[in-house]
Amino acid sequence: MKNMLIVMYVMIISCYMIILGISEARLKVGFYRETCPNAESIVGGFVRDAAKFNPQIPAFLLRLHFHDCFVQGCDGSILVDNGPISEKLAVGHQGVKGFDIIEDAKTQLEFVCPGVVSCADIVAIAARDAVAFSFGPIYEVETGRKDGFVSNVSLAANMPDFKDSIQLLKQKFFDKGLNEKDLVLLSGAHTIGSTACFFLMDRLYNFLPGGGPDPSINPEFLPELMESCPPNGNINFRLPIDHDTGETFDDQILENIRNGFAVLQSDAKLMDDPVTKQIIDSYFGFSNQSIQPSFEADFVTSIVKMGRIGVKTSSKRGEIRRVCSSFN
Ligand code: HEM
Ligand SMILES: *[C@@H]1O[C@H](CO)[C@@H](O)[C@H](O)[C@H]1NC(C)=O
Ligand SMILES: *[C@@H]1O[C@H](CO)[C@@H](O)[C@H](O)[C@H]1NC(C)=O
Repeated sequence: MKNMLIVMYVMIISCYMIILGISEARLKVGFYRETCPNAESIVGGFVRDAAKFNPQIPAFLLRLHFHDCFVQGCDGSILVDNGPISEKLAVGHQGVKGFDIIEDAKTQLEFVCPGVVSCADIVAIAARDAVAFSFGPIYEVETGRKDGFVSNVSLAANMPDFKDSIQLLKQKFFDKGLNEKDLVLLSGAHTIGSTACFFLMDRLYNFLPGGGPDPSINPEFLPELMESCPPNGNINFRLPIDHDTGETFDDQILENIRNGFAVLQSDAKLMDDPVTKQIIDSYFGFSNQSIQPSFEADFVTSIVKMGRIGVKTSSKRGEIRRVCSSFN
């Protein structure tokens, strides 16, 4: 009897919320279990095949998920080619790649279960598989996102930038419902992949008012960086972001950041703030917590949280694109 009452109460509230249009269904693990049971394994197959062919691909796909989620939510908005206004042309998305793998997986999925699997979900699944392929944590990915109706370059103006201060980086993450811990853990994604010298030149040669390198770079590391990216060298030359272990997903990135071996300026700045610094320290036994936290477990918590940013689950706010690069 009591259960009946609770069930009725929940039903009434749900109807009320649907009528008001305020309910946005939640994502869930295995959203396609009935409608397209092989969706995840199909995406995984494309990721693995592409990664075996080109070891840079896992990093492309992990980064793509971040850049998708931070503009308009995780809704595949970055994938659309709608001319000069395309979001993907934004300066803040410079160097983002992996679009072709998403499109290849989509083509196959449209063949197997047409009109069922969203591009935004393919991006999220591919990022999960990219982490696993790089020997990172294996986690369950939430799905059920719809693809957005908007792609507009000016909406990407607020992407976190490699030159942002730590205050601004924190603010941009707060604006997406992410906290300092998420900022640290998600920056930990830089445990795989590479950067162009372009993003390092000022840090190496023009950081201080009169010129000169960022003093936070470990003096043992500075000559190596300068050799990779000499003053008039090729700004497109690429070097691993995570010194020594650039192809393996591990907590070395946080140790490198702690020791002045950060390659990206935004990563180095995580040591400028007492809160983010303390979070990094906690992974190396410098914390008053009784149990030392796990980088990998905490990364999973944060990336699942990132995957929920601004998601659209109702057909009023999104669609299942037939082709990821264009609206239906
Ligand atoms: C905190 C703010 C962040 C800033 C300022 C930032 C900045 C950058 C920059 C400048 C690059 C080099 C791009 C290139 O040379 O092509 C890069 C690469 C990368 N970023 Fe971030 N990033 C941030 C957060 C994230 C997050 C949250 C993720 C994923 C969860 C991520 C994943 C990656 C990956 C995997 C690469 C390597 C890409 C490749 O190898 O082509 N980043 N990031
Ligand atoms: C793109 O977004 C900007 C800023 O919100 C807006 O002013 C502009 O009209 C949008 N352009 C299109 C074509 O929707
Ligand atoms: C750890 O110590 C800091 C200050 O030293 C304090 O603010 C924080 O609450 C402590 N955390 C725990 C889990 O005890």
